[in-house]
Amino acid sequence: MKLEQIHIPVLLKEVLEYLNLKPGDVVFDGTLGGAGHSLAILKAIAPTGKLIAVDQDSQAVSTAARLFKDYRNVYLAKGNFADVKKIINSFNVSSLDGFLLDLGLSSFQIDRSGKGFSYIRNEKLDMRMDEDNPVSAFNIVNEYSSKKLKEIFFKFGEEKYSERIAENVILWRKKKPVETTGELSEIIEKSIPAKEKFSKRGHPSKRIFQAIRIEVNRELDNLEEAIDDGFEVLNKGGKMAIISYHSLEDRIVKNKFINFSGKCICPADLPVCMCGAEKKAEILTRRVVKPTLAEIAENKRASSAKLRAIKKL
Ligand SMILES: C[S@@+](CC[C@H](N)C(=O)[O-])C[C@H]1O[C@@H](n2cnc3c(N)ncnc32)[C@H](O)[C@@H]1O
Repeated sequence: MKLEQIHIPVLLKEVLEYLNLKPGDVVFDGTLGGAGHSLAILKAIAPTGKLIAVDQDSQAVSTAARLFKDYRNVYLAKGNFADVKKIINSFNVSSLDGFLLDLGLSSFQIDRSGKGFSYIRNEKLDMRMDEDNPVSAFNIVNEYSSKKLKEIFFKFGEEKYSERIAENVILWRKKKPVETTGELSEIIEKSIPAKEKFSKRGHPSKRIFQAIRIEVNRELDNLEEAIDDGFEVLNKGGKMAIISYHSLEDRIVKNKFINFSGKCICPADLPVCMCGAEKKAEILTRRVVKPTLAEIAENKRASSAKLRAIKKL
């Protein structure tokens, strides 16, 4: 199977439209994955531009290195997009014309990494995108207290039966550790009343797996840091585009972009503005951009995608 077929880039035409790149531009792709967006960016900035593309999953980086072996204007690194400043500096770059994040997991990671990202497959509990991360899903599920588990299930999975699921994890642990995605799914299913198992909100394991994955990979903290630091190193006129796949990510992107556009995002009950809102950017996507039905028909993974973009002033 060819590399391009493993992960189909989501909202590719729209990303290129909003980044509006030209030859010579310097671009950071913080989520290299199957390199679909990177490849299109490289073509748009050739022959003099520079693409710095990173992924925290070393397998994505080594696969892309093979794909890009004949390209001279691409700089690849294994790293976290939250370290955008450090990474671009290591390639002697201090500012950017374009910044892209396509969040979440690649199809390869979900279907073939064996890291237990999906409740549909019975695999070892791991969920680390970065294999050097000392904390895996196994540690979280087997070492966190009931209170802490309940908190992450509720905060990152928005699961109303968080407490019951957490308690049942602790009960299971009294007999043996929870070692596989299958065992975790069994615990989750047992904790949910039968009539709610297949409600409109989808399978409950999906929400709990999402919660654990966010905790393992510090996904929301990394996103906030990357937006702030990426925006700082963006040139005037430079664009930032971010594709998110669930409401917790999209809320962060939306609020940061609103804040950069000068609107105060402080809670209504704060007597004075604490967020330091100041107009530094123009929002390019007045309404969030979603894939067309045709794109979803071709690529089911695109269905929850939301793209937002800004231009630095
Ligand atoms: C949806 S895929 C990207 C697909 C890519 N845009 C393409 O066209 O093939 C997301 C990728 O981002 C990586 N990733 C997620 N969070 C990251 C982070 N904080 N730092 C670096 N890479 C990250 C994942 O390992 C995964 O390979």
